[in-house]
Amino acid sequence: MRLVLVGPPGAGKGTQAEFIASHLSVPKISTGDIFRANVTQKTELGLEAKRYMDAGGLVPDEVTINMVRGRLAESDAADGFLLDGFPRTVPQAVALDKMLTDADNGLDLVLELIVEHDEVIRRLSGRRTCHGCKKIWHVEFDAPAHEGICDRCQGELYQRDDDKAETIAERLRVYARDTAPLVDYYGAQGKLVGIDATGPVEDVTVRAIDALRSYG
Ligand code: AP5
Ligand code: ZN
Repeated sequence: MRLVLVGPPGAGKGTQAEFIASHLSVPKISTGDIFRANVTQKTELGLEAKRYMDAGGLVPDEVTINMVRGRLAESDAADGFLLDGFPRTVPQAVALDKMLTDADNGLDLVLELIVEHDEVIRRLSGRRTCHGCKKIWHVEFDAPAHEGICDRCQGELYQRDDDKAETIAERLRVYARDTAPLVDYYGAQGKLVGIDATGPVEDVTVRAIDALRSYG
């Protein structure tokens, strides 16, 4: 299955992507994770991306599209994938359609995670990520047994640089301006299905998998 997850920052895309990708046995491809790995490794791409990420803006389309094109050409994505964080602009969606049409493998479904504004702010402000296994935690909603330490791998947890209040506000503005139009774009293609992404993580996963079953 070829699936895209859309939703505002903090909607739970990364959290759900892990469960859904494993349920579907497809690779999870997160552009945010790829950029962050490049930032950590201080690659040329990472140095360029960091400027935009720290400001809450988007990495330019051309850079992002080329990166995704390369990733989708890898053999593990041949039979399906779950994209988290891409596309994020209409030009990226058009480029993705073109890549997949060329390969005769169109998208099956776009799953929109719907969460109201105040809730995403609460989620982003309390998010912590594991340095080791990258698992996403929350200080209140999904806290590890020992503060600051990952239950799964004992790695240290950190707060993302772009989860500061002023950067969160800018990311939400950018989402409304540049990414929300994708809802109409994919709606017009008949590929969009929206689910309520509030409530416990496991309940959202069940809704997501039910939605895939009815539309897949
Ligand atoms: P990216 O990493 O994609 O960030 P984002 O879209 O802003 O999304 P987030 O990762 O912040 O949120 P999420 O929806 O994954 O939520 P999560 O599961 O963590 O991108 C970062 C940056 O990279 C961008 O700003 C941009 O600069 C650049 N970039 C990336 N892709 C790009 C592209 N295509 N084009 C251009 N630039 C690009 O959950 C959030 C918190 O909530 C966690 O703490 C979690 O534990 C908690 N939580 C999750 N679900 C629930 C629940 N049901 N109840 C309570 N808490 C919950
Ligand atoms: Zn860990």
